[in-house]
Amino acid sequence: MAGGITVRRQHPVVVGITGASGAVIARELVDALLERETPVAAVASNAARMVWQEELDESYNDAVARWVEHPHFQQYAISDLFAPIASGTFPTAGMVIAPASMNSVASLAHGLTPNLLLRAADVTLKERRPLTLIPRETPLHATHLENMLTLSRMGATILPPEPPFYLKPLDIDGVVRFVVQRALVSLGISDSLPDDMQYHDRQR
Ligand SMILES: Cc1cc2nc3c(=O)[nH]c(=O)nc-3n(C[C@H](O)[C@H](O)[C@H](O)COP(=O)(O)O)c2cc1C
Repeated sequence: MAGGITVRRQHPVVVGITGASGAVIARELVDALLERETPVAAVASNAARMVWQEELDESYNDAVARWVEHPHFQQYAISDLFAPIASGTFPTAGMVIAPASMNSVASLAHGLTPNLLLRAADVTLKERRPLTLIPRETPLHATHLENMLTLSRMGATILPPEPPFYLKPLDIDGVVRFVVQRALVSLGISDSLPDDMQYHDRQR
């Protein structure tokens, strides 16, 4: 324990990045995990790479080139079904899909695993490890909602990237930092939110 943060050093967190809007959440999440010296195994869908370029004005490969400098970062190709994270025998600390597209949410809810990201998420569910989804779409139709309900019943945490209005965030960065901290807590990587993100502390 350091400053209220529990660090699990040995097993990686799998970060799955899909083609929903909100690539900045994935970038902040990987940065936050590596800052904590938590190993990261990242996999991005082809659509995620397109959205990354569109929203962040850099290629996903540019981000990977920065992260591979870190000894705890590992990147896998979306087609690499031989990667260790495709197997339940490979231990992980859980997985976050950030952002989660409705396409990948639907596939996962129905046990479809045509790529490494979905296979790793399916493995996370079957091994009953923590799985957090940060779904992004609006508005949501009934099938979107039913798929998320299915995943919630299977044990996944559904964490929409909603602004903490009560904290009066000044910008998108403030919202993104909050969502990432919530994701770390949901995985058990952090024990609690930082003090400045706790509403009851701000009431004092
Ligand atoms: C710029 C851009 C933004 C998109 N935003 C979303 C979104 O917010 N939510 C969503 O479900 N799909 C969104 N899509 C569509 C997905 O990328 C598309 O359904 C894709 O097939 C998802 O594939 P994946 O699940 O393998 O990443 C977006 C696509 C583009 C190009």
